[in-house]
Amino acid sequence: MSDLRLSDPVTLISSDSFTPDEIARIEAVAPALRAGTKEAREALPADQRASIKAIANKGHRAIDGAQMDLFPNLKLIAQFGVGYDAIDVAAATARGIKVTNTPDVLNEDVADLALAMMLGWARQIPQGDAWVRNGTWASGRELPLNRKMSGARVGIAGMGRIGRAIADRLAAFNMEVHYCSRSEKDTPGWTYHADVVALAAAVDWLVVAVVGGDSTRGYVSRAAIEALGPQGVVINIARGTCIDEEALIEALQQGKIAGAGLDVFYNEPHVDARLIAMDNVLLQPHQASSTVETRRDMSMAQCANLAAFFAGETLITPVN
Ligand code: 8YV
Repeated sequence: MSDLRLSDPVTLISSDSFTPDEIARIEAVAPALRAGTKEAREALPADQRASIKAIANKGHRAIDGAQMDLFPNLKLIAQFGVGYDAIDVAAATARGIKVTNTPDVLNEDVADLALAMMLGWARQIPQGDAWVRNGTWASGRELPLNRKMSGARVGIAGMGRIGRAIADRLAAFNMEVHYCSRSEKDTPGWTYHADVVALAAAVDWLVVAVVGGDSTRGYVSRAAIEALGPQGVVINIARGTCIDEEALIEALQQGKIAGAGLDVFYNEPHVDARLIAMDNVLLQPHQASSTVETRRDMSMAQCANLAAFFAGETLITPVN
């Protein structure tokens, strides 16, 4: 790499979580350097740092202004993912650095996982599987009756592209769909609420599908969680930061709500031990977009932005 001229396009691969296929796609766009950690990036010699024009990022570790300043010729951060809350977009904009993401291609999978967690929680799928495997069923016991999901009242917090994909699925389960969003949307008769507390008060299931970042930190507040009531179940496929996690844990422990299905957490991949200890909580390892098909499409969307950038063309999905 050190014999590259300053004018050569060079991408920095800034995460160790890219798969070999994803790396091959990035390298097919332009030569690439790998430095998957902050420490590895800081250790790069100055001439290599100066060669970097674009960063291909994945995951949820912060990229702040100081990280950007390591690369004086950086002009693009292409995020693998719809969420870009890990990137300080204001700092990027101030430095003339564009940021792109990979929206839309993951809507269906994220919505599918929200449904899977709802059904999994309501019908005790993990517990049922364990009963079959560990012989409890064969010993003559029957799984306690579980809860009907079809026809229940559901609230979607955030009626963006993913919220809409979730709502469409839930409507097919004959659920009474309520939602809150920055503005009222054109929907097939679903009920709009101006805020999340009013939404929670009207439903038994609350599905969190708002964007991450500072604007939604603690958005599902203690008041919203308590408004849900003792039959309430919280499903989160957005970001751990979107819920007051402390209030959620307390409400679960005290029976103020019935349960939760969580794919995202405050301090992931480290999940609060109190959540792990509760059997009315269904936990997933932030896997909503993790299908072969969707991850390929996300990778292609990331690389399409890189290719547009290096060709001097209009970026496909810019966020700033
Ligand atoms: C991640 C996600 O991209 O798209 C998002 O915002 O949270 C996920 O799909 C994925 O975990 C890779 O970091």
